[in-house]
Amino acid sequence: MPTTATAKAVQSPHFDLPPLPYPHAALEPVISRETLELHHGKHHKKYVDTTNELLKKEPLQARTLEEVVRASQGKLFNNAGQAWNHDFYWKSLSPQPQRPAGALLARIDADFGGYERFAEAFAAAAAAQFGSGWAWLVEKDGKLQIQTTANAETPMARGVRCLLTIDVWEHAYYIDYRNQRERYLAAVIGERLNWKFAEQNLR
Ligand SMILES: [Fe+2]
Repeated sequence: MPTTATAKAVQSPHFDLPPLPYPHAALEPVISRETLELHHGKHHKKYVDTTNELLKKEPLQARTLEEVVRASQGKLFNNAGQAWNHDFYWKSLSPQPQRPAGALLARIDADFGGYERFAEAFAAAAAAQFGSGWAWLVEKDGKLQIQTTANAETPMARGVRCLLTIDVWEHAYYIDYRNQRERYLAAVIGERLNWKFAEQNLR
């Protein structure tokens, strides 16, 4: 690009749909290939595409998706937030069952009274989120906490460190579990959370 008088104009970033960190069928039988193809290839993609479209119309001085989420509101926030949340969700899931270990397990023991209690509380909070939203394991004020957010909202936008998330929008589970959100949550929390990713986020 040649340097021109307009070079100082606000230049919005452009985002690509990040690839899934595993094949579409890798989370079966907990989450089906069909769900992942639709959820990543259609829903997540639409949020990324719409974010790019909106940024073309209303340029924003930002480099990263995190910066766009933190600096935006309304329709742009909803789409950029969902783009970020979904990327974080794919990373929060693991094809292999895992359990927290080491320093992270010690923090869970201290802040929740053990892994089993954490798992129960996480499932209960996620089940109780009314309508569309997200359940999060976060670190805030030096403690691990469970938070839930509605629609596209994310603790990241408020400067809270996110460790893991579960999508509780119906599109995340309706193909595999119909309206039974609790069954989806039990399977994901029991067999598909990526505790290594949570550990990386805690550092
Ligand atoms: Fe989703």
